[in-house]
Amino acid sequence: MKKSIFLFPSLLALCVTACAGVKQYEPKDYMLDLNVTHTGDIRVLQLTDTHIGDKDNVPLHEKFMDLTINEAKANGGLDLIVITGDVFTFASKSTAKQFLDWVDSHEIPWTLTFGNHDEQCWFSIDWLTDVLNNYGPRCLFLDKQDDTIQGNANFAINCYKNNTLFEQFILMDSNRYNYKGYFGYDYFKQDQIDWYSRLVEHTKVMNSNTVLPSLMFYHIPLPEVRDAWEAAKNDSSLILNPVGEGQQNEEPCNPDYNSHFYDVIKEKGSTHGMYFGHDHINNYIINYDGIHFGYGIKATDRVYADDSMLGGRVIVIHDDHSLDYEDIYHTYQEVK
Ligand SMILES: [Fe+2]
Repeated sequence: MKKSIFLFPSLLALCVTACAGVKQYEPKDYMLDLNVTHTGDIRVLQLTDTHIGDKDNVPLHEKFMDLTINEAKANGGLDLIVITGDVFTFASKSTAKQFLDWVDSHEIPWTLTFGNHDEQCWFSIDWLTDVLNNYGPRCLFLDKQDDTIQGNANFAINCYKNNTLFEQFILMDSNRYNYKGYFGYDYFKQDQIDWYSRLVEHTKVMNSNTVLPSLMFYHIPLPEVRDAWEAAKNDSSLILNPVGEGQQNEEPCNPDYNSHFYDVIKEKGSTHGMYFGHDHINNYIINYDGIHFGYGIKATDRVYADDSMLGGRVIVIHDDHSLDYEDIYHTYQEVK
């Protein structure tokens, strides 16, 4: 007993030290609202792998992306723009801020998540997270930097349509590199998977005890993207690209380690579409087991790209939550 009494203050002190500055939050603390007041489809533009950096002709890339954004708007308006990671590479703070201001200048709600390259800049991911957390009202970004959840972009956007909760957009940070068990791309950690489960359960309670349909946006594809491609090779009707055939021009660079997030996603029954980037010259959308796996269309020609596979994709969400896609392609010849 004496020993316990002696140990208790030591353990308490250790815990206080280890836990200093770390907080536990409820699922509702990770939620933002997007209020849509029109009837009809919800339209979300996915841009990916912009890789904006200091050495670039940034105005040229912005002019190029304007082609995609303007076409998406002209096709039926836009309710949200999502950039699915690798937003910056070797960018300074001023370049990053200028780019975010350019995104915001379109006067459309926007958000982003991080890729593996976003930390390779003249600023830290924490600095960028802080900028985004404190940006203006059209920037729908929320990360709790003092929580226990791995990553810097785990949050949800609740899309209300004429004041009724309609669909949830879940942004997650697929992390960067793994130097421990193996060298390669990192994976969703167990605390993120648990966070997702709590989020879906909490949202179900908010939605009169009915699971709310959700779409997920992250950067590095789950390992199951390979299974999806294999399934589509045997059944081309699973490929949903509206233009062309949906291409895999490089092997998916998914994590070697499978943390089985996909099993939880299936079990929870909320997410019916997942959209990512990372592999620049893949652009397919596959209906795999009822969940759409969608590689984005690369938004700029930075780092490596197929010049005929640049632009963006509009995800169209109908009233019954069924999904359609508008693949938009442009070339730099149009802006040079
Ligand atoms: Fe990339």
